[in-house]
Amino acid sequence: MVTTPLLPSDYLDLVSPLRAGADLRGRIEAVHPETADAATLVIRPGRGWRRHTAGQYVRIGVDVDGRRLWRAYSITSPTDRQDGRITITVKAIPDGQVSNHLVHRARPGTLIRLDQPTGDFVLPHAKPAKVLYLTAGSGITPVMGMLRDTEVDDVVLVHCAPQPQDVLFRDELHGLVADKKLRLTEVHTAMDGRLDVARLGELVPDWAERETWACGPAGLLDAAEEHWTDNGVRERLRTERFRPRIVVAGDGGAVTFSTTGKTVDADGATPLLDIGEEAGVLMPSGCRMGICFGCVTPLKAGAVRDLRTGEITEAEPGVLIQTCVSAAAGPCDIER
Ligand SMILES: Cc1cc2nc3c(=O)[nH]c(=O)nc-3n(C[C@H](O)[C@H](O)[C@H](O)COP(=O)(O)OP(=O)(O)OC[C@H]3O[C@@H](n4cnc5c(N)ncnc54)[C@H](O)[C@@H]3O)c2cc1C
Ligand code: FES
Repeated sequence: MVTTPLLPSDYLDLVSPLRAGADLRGRIEAVHPETADAATLVIRPGRGWRRHTAGQYVRIGVDVDGRRLWRAYSITSPTDRQDGRITITVKAIPDGQVSNHLVHRARPGTLIRLDQPTGDFVLPHAKPAKVLYLTAGSGITPVMGMLRDTEVDDVVLVHCAPQPQDVLFRDELHGLVADKKLRLTEVHTAMDGRLDVARLGELVPDWAERETWACGPAGLLDAAEEHWTDNGVRERLRTERFRPRIVVAGDGGAVTFSTTGKTVDADGATPLLDIGEEAGVLMPSGCRMGICFGCVTPLKAGAVRDLRTGEITEAEPGVLIQTCVSAAAGPCDIER
């Protein structure tokens, strides 16, 4: 009663935000620019943080212009970092709310929310004899986490970026090459054009024998999945996508967020998560690509389309939808 309307924990948060028992938080302790549009953030996780496996990602909640937004970022630090801190490396994308905030405006001392690390884009316990990493742009981040953590005898990295100065971690990668710990091919797409995955054999003749981890834009990953499948070695390829694979769009409709009392028009291609956020509705979210279920919300009326499969879900009592991969399929009512 003494502290109403705040809870005692709110006061504890002021003096000890990283204490055990509090919602898991982290403090940004440093921001290191990597390229013109990317930076590495050094984060001290609070008590209760569980050690990650190299290649995994963490969801972070950041306050941007008064709104808490959640996004996923691969952990780029090795698992045995002595000071207990972790790093993520963020590339600012055009109009990206969180990525621009983190790269250009985040300051040491800022508190963020953290989830426990998760993800299965990791090396197996038994180290493969020969590894290929195939990455583009910011897709190198989970692979950098693995390179820094686990030595593999025979490892090749093919990495695509527009120009040499856009290659994240370039000096460190060349250091690994000099130490004979890595064979590296950089594809500079502004000069050489996009990598033709069907001709990967010209760069890595034994690619089909290698256990492969690929991360990058949808075009690269779709081409890789096709190439590995056509050559009968699909089981050797693991991919990590930063955005959902959207295959279909349909009719939109008027979307009502009945708890907030707002109705807005939506097209049939934009996720309801974006529609709600744009309208100022408090929308829970996480990975924004259909994997974490952090956005599930009751569908009270109408129908929505799963943007990955085209499947239509109609409202029924108790039916939940993932707003990050669902768009309006006619008028609908979302319980937010
Ligand atoms: C498992 C996982 C790991 C990830 N790891 C990293 C990482 O290590 N480093 C990193 O920089 N990012 C990573 N991402 C992507 C990250 O979560 C955000 O999607 C990204 O930072 C964009 O967020 P934003 O708020 O800036 O953009 P938003 O404001 O959400 O989007 C702005 C516009 O950009 C489009 N957009 C959204 N995401 C992307 C994208 N990834 N590429 C191109 N266009 C996009 C949107 O459709 C929208 O039109 C990861 C994503 C996942 C799912
Ligand atoms: S935000 Fe992760 S499943 Fe929708």
